[in-house]
Amino acid sequence: MIQLSPSLLSADFSQLREEALEVAPLTDRYHWDVMDAHFVPNLTFGPPVVNALRPHLDKPFDIHLMIDHPAKYAPQFDVRPGDVIVFHTESSDAPDDVIRVIRDHGAGVGITLRPGTSLEAIELYLDQVCQVLVMSVEPGFGGQKFMPEALDRLRKLRTLIGERPITLAVDGGIHAGTIRSAVEAGAELLITGSAVFGAEDRLEAMRELKQAATQA
Ligand code: DX5
Ligand code: ZN
Repeated sequence: MIQLSPSLLSADFSQLREEALEVAPLTDRYHWDVMDAHFVPNLTFGPPVVNALRPHLDKPFDIHLMIDHPAKYAPQFDVRPGDVIVFHTESSDAPDDVIRVIRDHGAGVGITLRPGTSLEAIELYLDQVCQVLVMSVEPGFGGQKFMPEALDRLRKLRTLIGERPITLAVDGGIHAGTIRSAVEAGAELLITGSAVFGAEDRLEAMRELKQAATQA
């Protein structure tokens, strides 16, 4: 089952709620890119903004932490059952600690890594997570070009994951021209920012993405 998850990073921040509701009919999950200007060279939003939106949206949230000290900040997000907090293995805290904190907080645990980090960095944790996110751009900004090397990483992870109940996600540069190859490589949760919020008709863009994702 293919799931589409719009990244609000590319939405108009002055009307986050309206834009999120606009795509709601075709949205499976919402993706929130939290950046701290340390772990990545960009500064976006944090718990106060994501928490303010939580009561207004009825699809699960994926909170993508591109920050140092994820163990300190993860518990500050108001999560509902089904929400996932995704952290980077390269961040400043030990993965075991971050996993424990996220789980104790009542969220699903997602794990991700920069495009240049060896997959070995997450192999050890596959029994403890429900989402693995492959970055197909260098984290930090929306609107970048899809890195084709991500396809090989998706295929390898698909095999490593095996029968575990893990959703394999891909994030960065997903549009109608790249989505099918990501799906063929094993991705089932497709995150897309600029391809949706940069379009004049967002729902039509989501419809096209869904169609392109399933077209043989
Ligand atoms: C990059 C973010 C992605 C990105 C996706 O650091 O994690 O979620 O915003 O945006 P597009 O689809 O424009 O690449
Ligand atoms: Zn993201």
